[in-house]
Formats: sequence, structure tokens, C-alpha cells
Amino acid sequence: MVPISSKDKILNAGDPANMAKAVSILRGEGVVAFPTETVYGLGADVFSAKAIGRVFEVKKRPSFDPLIVHVSSLEEAQGLWKEVPPVALDLMKRFWPGPLTLVLPKTDEVPDLVTSGLPTVAVRLPDSPIALELIRGLGHPIAAPSANIFGYTSPTTASAVWEDLGDHVDLVLDGGPARVGVESTILKVEKNRCILLRPGGVPLETIEACAPVVRKKEGAGVCEAPGSLQAHYAPWTALALLDKPFGDFAKDLGEIFRTYEQKEIPWPRAGLLAFDAKGDMPWFESVEVLSESGNLHEAAHRLFGAIRKLDRMHLDLILAERAPDEGLGMAINDRLGKASGGRSGTRFLLDRLKQEGT
Ligand code: TXA
Ligand code: MG
Repeated sequence: MVPISSKDKILNAGDPANMAKAVSILRGEGVVAFPTETVYGLGADVFSAKAIGRVFEVKKRPSFDPLIVHVSSLEEAQGLWKEVPPVALDLMKRFWPGPLTLVLPKTDEVPDLVTSGLPTVAVRLPDSPIALELIRGLGHPIAAPSANIFGYTSPTTASAVWEDLGDHVDLVLDGGPARVGVESTILKVEKNRCILLRPGGVPLETIEACAPVVRKKEGAGVCEAPGSLQAHYAPWTALALLDKPFGDFAKDLGEIFRTYEQKEIPWPRAGLLAFDAKGDMPWFESVEVLSESGNLHEAAHRLFGAIRKLDRMHLDLILAERAPDEGLGMAINDRLGKASGGRSGTRFLLDRLKQEGT
């Protein structure tokens, strides 16, 4: 059998014939990866049990983790929810189309398979002409998680989707790199109260200028957004966080490095994921700077691509610097925190020193 190459399945979304093909695959209960402004999604007709089943299967996603439903109009969203409180309507009008997902009680029409049996459904109106054309072409909302293997870094390009899912998807629509680069902000609306389930593409401060938001207490109660589980968005390579501001950390690193030398223990092959520009970094085999000037939008846009690039080098360790905890920095830090599973950079290097020294 001739292996199917990416050329046959990654098609330019700008060509109407390719868009028509994507629509016909979705109508035939297939699955199509497509760009949104945040990351690429793996889409299925929300009303097709067969296609939704395949989304879970292709992603190796546990069935308890519900999907976000993508709509092409406010009215379509309203049809999926039992009731839309005034605060939700305000948020929709202010931030849609855009990277904000709202979770509200669902109507019976929304299949339980999509919501993993939850009585609520997460819905968003993406700010991407390609995504909107696809939803309108199908004539139904599209349920779509990020188009990556469950637990791995989300894809922001068509080739990243292919790297992860390859031939298991029926088609990848290529719309170029995703503009925002981190997933949507998820808010649960209870009566007139908004609860933050995941920081994302709309900064919390921007939402708070419009409506008060309750920040979720870490580890409290049931897991509201299973994607908020630890060890999510993670590369295969061990990723650890700098536990201090960069200057102080670099001093520690210098000392730890000298101890490795004294004990004649090989220094690990490490990569640095830096938030902004850094000077000479002799300890790292590779340095990825998210934004030379420290611009949060640019950093978010480049985040997942930079993680994937370092991951492809098969290093022993990726050390990641957190962004300032404001604006899109909250989403960046959330993803880095999950990808590291809370691992500290200094701890990693000292533990290795101990292990190798015995
Ligand atoms: O930007 C995005 O949101 C991207 C693009 C493709 O739209 N999608 C995305 O989907 O990030 P996914 O499946 O990777 O993450 C969706 C998160 C998961 O953590 C899931 O648990 C949560 O949304 N979620 C979905 N439905 C929910 C619900 N009814 N209640 C609480 N959390 C929900
Ligand atoms: Mg995801």
C-alpha cells in the first residue's frame, strides 16, 4: 500500500474546492482539522455520534473530557443553551467573534457524547473566516477540541496537526499560523456570575472591565475543565520552570554548572524557552526567545511552536521562563505551569546531580 503523504491531506483553505471538500467530509460524518484564531481544532458535526466518537479516538482523548462547540452566529449559540443570562449576552456581544468560550446549561438537542454527560455545554464563535465558512457550509455547529494528541502541546500550524495526528484525520485545512496562539479563555456562567475555568486568548482584565469574574481556586472541588488537569499542554521532553527572576536564576545556574564540572558529571543537554531577549547563554544547546521586546501577543503567538521546536531536538531538559502574570501572560503561564507539572528547574538539575553522582 502506498503511504498517504501530507500533500494529499493538507489542503490550502483559500481554495474554494478544498473548502467544499472539507464540508462534504463533515457532512459524511468525517473529521476535519481546521484553523481558528487561537489554535487548530479537530472538527466534527456536533450531531454526528460517529464523527464525535472519532474525534475522541483520534486524539486519544478520555471520554470524560467534553468538547467545545463552535458556532457561526449568536443565534446558533442561543439554540444550544437553555437560557442565556444578561451577563452572558453582554459578553457574547462584546467578545464574539473571538477567543472566549462560555459554558452554560445545555438544551436536550446537544448530544451527551459532546459534553461527556455534563448538563452544560461550552460554546464559542471563532474569529476566523475559514472556521466560520466551514460551520456555515455544514449548516450545523462544529464540535472541536484542539487538534493534538491528548495532553500534548496544541497545534498552531497545519504541519503541527499533521505531526500529531497524521493520516488519522480525513483532511487538514491549512490557513497559515494561528493568530493568537493560545486557546480561548473559558468562563462558566452560573446565574449572573462568571467563573474562570481557563485563562486564554481574551485577557482576564479585559473581561473584568465588562463583568466581574470569580477566579477558580486551584485544586478545589470537582474538575470543572478537565483540560485544567496537571500535566497538560506538555512536550515529551521534561520541561521545568525557572523558579526565580532570570538574573538570580542565571547566578544559581552558574554555580550548579561549576559543581557538575567539579564532579565531572556531564551537563544535561538543555534548551531555554525565554520570554524576552537574553545575553549569551553558554549552558544551553538552544535558546528560543518568545518575544525579543517582551511583547505578550507575540510571545503567545510563538509559544507552542517554540515548545515543539525544542521538543524535536530530543534534549534532556527544557527550562522555561514565565511571562509577566498579566494580560496574555496569564494564559502563557498557565500553559507553562501545566506543561511543567510544577517541576522546578533548579530542583531538576540538583536531583540529576545527586543521581549521577552516586
Ligand atoms: O481555543 C480553543 O478553545 C480551542 C479551539 C480549537 O477552539 N479549543 C480547545 O479545545 O482548546 P480543548 O478541547 O483542547 O479544550 C477545551 C476545554 C477542555 O479543558 C474541556 O474540559 C473544557 O474545555 N470544557 C469543554 N466543555 C466543558 C463544559 N461543559 N464544562 C467545563 N469545561 C468544559
Ligand atoms: Mg486541548
